[in-house]
Amino acid sequence: MADLRPIRLGVNVDHVATVRNARGGRHPDPVRAAKAAIAAGASGITAHLREDRRHITDDDVRRLMAEISAPLNLEMAATEEMLAIALRTRPHASCIVPEKRTERTTEGGLDAAGAGAALAPVVAKLAAAGIRVSLFVEPEQKQIEAAAAIRAAVVELHTGAWCEAHMAGDAAGAKVEFERIRTVARTAARLGLEVHAGHGLDFTTAEEIAALTEIVELNIGHFLVGEALFSGFEPTIRTMRAAMDRGRARARGRAA
Ligand code: PXP
Repeated sequence: MADLRPIRLGVNVDHVATVRNARGGRHPDPVRAAKAAIAAGASGITAHLREDRRHITDDDVRRLMAEISAPLNLEMAATEEMLAIALRTRPHASCIVPEKRTERTTEGGLDAAGAGAALAPVVAKLAAAGIRVSLFVEPEQKQIEAAAAIRAAVVELHTGAWCEAHMAGDAAGAKVEFERIRTVARTAARLGLEVHAGHGLDFTTAEEIAALTEIVELNIGHFLVGEALFSGFEPTIRTMRAAMDRGRARARGRAA
């Protein structure tokens, strides 16, 4: 069923913390960025507390929970340590991601199909605490079916391969990847999962994917923080918000 409500924008503030941590100290402050993003139209804030604390710190998570007015989506690996932190912190949502120490960013999705037995108890404990659980997965049928089987509420589809093809000017490759996302988003919605998407999105790709009405939220970070260097943080969020609204409006036009 097409969802024609405005698509939500989750702003990921990890890389504000990356810049801060390059020097140590407190500037730039990811909590200030989160507040600016909300003022400019973000629906929620996302932060990934990595095992090595390379960007977001435990104190950032504590302050985000205490100081921001929008829902916090805490990205985390399915480890005992992160589970304990999430259960203590009680964010609105937890997005479970795979995590390798050596990767630069989250490479690939979670293997929900292969690791379902290990993931199910983590999903169950988070859900029992009232936290909305999302699994970050590749746009593959078997991952969606596995996410539904272990009773995640949400799947976040990894858009990295599509965005990379798009950025490389590989129109044929981008079309294949986009169709994968479209098909899998439909399956996920049919199975009762809420569908999010993210990774590598920019103004152009966010506008395009916003036309897929099964997708109700995009989580975007790196591009926004980079673009803010040139245009300012709040104007960048507003431009992204407008791009997503244009994409959704096209879908509304088709549905009318
Ligand atoms: N969604 C998830 C689950 C992620 O791990 C990331 C990267 O931290 C993003 C969205 C945002 O990706 P990007 O920073 O490339 O916009």
